[in-house]
Amino acid sequence: MGSFLINGQKPLFGSIKVDSAKNSLLPILAGCLLCDGIVKIYDVTYFEDILNMLEILKMLGVKVKKYEHMLILDCTNIQNSIIPIEYANKLRASIFCLGPLLSRLKKAKLAYPGGCSIGARPIDLHLSGLNSLGAKIIDKHGYISAFYDNMKAGEVHFPFPSVGATENLIMASVFLKGKTTLYGVAKEPEIVDLCRFLNKMGANIKGEGSDVIVIYGVSKLKGGEFRPISDRIIAGTYLMLPLVAGGEVEIENIVPSHISSLIFLLKNNSCKLHINGDKLIVSKIGRLSSLGKVETLPYPHFATDLQQPLSAVASFCKGTTIITENMFEGRFKHVPQLIKMGAKINICDSSLVIQGKEELYGAEVEASDLRGCASLVLAGLGANGYTKIKNIEFLDRGYFKLEEKLQKLGADIVRQT
Ligand code: UD1
Repeated sequence: MGSFLINGQKPLFGSIKVDSAKNSLLPILAGCLLCDGIVKIYDVTYFEDILNMLEILKMLGVKVKKYEHMLILDCTNIQNSIIPIEYANKLRASIFCLGPLLSRLKKAKLAYPGGCSIGARPIDLHLSGLNSLGAKIIDKHGYISAFYDNMKAGEVHFPFPSVGATENLIMASVFLKGKTTLYGVAKEPEIVDLCRFLNKMGANIKGEGSDVIVIYGVSKLKGGEFRPISDRIIAGTYLMLPLVAGGEVEIENIVPSHISSLIFLLKNNSCKLHINGDKLIVSKIGRLSSLGKVETLPYPHFATDLQQPLSAVASFCKGTTIITENMFEGRFKHVPQLIKMGAKINICDSSLVIQGKEELYGAEVEASDLRGCASLVLAGLGANGYTKIKNIEFLDRGYFKLEEKLQKLGADIVRQT
């Protein structure tokens, strides 16, 4: 496992570009299983999770050609409907293949998905949703087998707006004859992007971005070209860089409305945010005051994926910040590591009570999930002295060559293998 060595407190200056959204690209890649044709995807960033998803697609029969920032996927010949454990357990998003395989091959067998350990992460909503459209599901020996025979267009009511279950159900419904209505769905920009992709390939989906999505069945999806949206979690993480390290950073390829809850949180604090189209310039003008009370909730509220990075920022703020995590119960594993660096954080049930310190100090810390690792990088950039972060492979799942980008801004950070 590799590590980062960061010598903190170097102010950051310059431009940094946000990559395409990993969480958009993952369901879109699964959605390619529905397309009888050649799909070209532009602006591709090869995060570890994307590489693992491509291995799954290849194994299922997709011919994959990788270029520097473009993917060409020949999806004409999908034959295999089984995803074994050694593929499925590499990432949570392997479950996104369930809906498309059911639609395309009328059956699917998948080992339980892997992914970051941030809580129980069940898939009951995926399975009950498919079941309410008539799919037969057998859940045995760590494998889910699903059969399409009795599936019919109909209604699905989500008790909770799960992002992945919404995406899976959309993809399972595109070929169902008639009208399928999904109620209480998630509204994340990545879902809107998936629907934009599927509609471009010939699907007929309406209502994306609201809490009711209607899918009118079509008989076939074709190939085509697509460019995914930029990654709002990376954008939010970049926005936090000068807040911990000082300086002024221009973030390119950002959709400010996708991180409006973070921007709102920083209003009237000791930083300047200037938005100009798809660019945002952020600079720190003093020590930030408390961020108040922050709660993670489904979009458009504050994203759970930014909770861990924000807790690093709050560790440097004046006064007390309270962050409540409502989405995943295991998303505080970074906290003992921040405490090692001098942060004053108490965990009270599902909340972090963070009493900001004027200074954190470098220490040897260990990452245990993707966004937790991003939080440690932010803390290391703001801390006095050297921070060694172990297990940075977690970070590579969702940030591409982050150390090279940070070096260009003036950070003293090196990867050690
Ligand atoms: C997606 C994102 C992830 C983000 C999360 C919430 C991708 C690849 N990942 O994950 O980065 O943190 O949305 O914004 O897009 N749940 C159930 N049963 C289910 C499904 C989910 O109880 O069948 C629960 C989960 O345990 C969790 C909550 O619902 O507590 C949210 O999960 P969900 O929205 O499904 O997140 P993911 O799609 O896994």
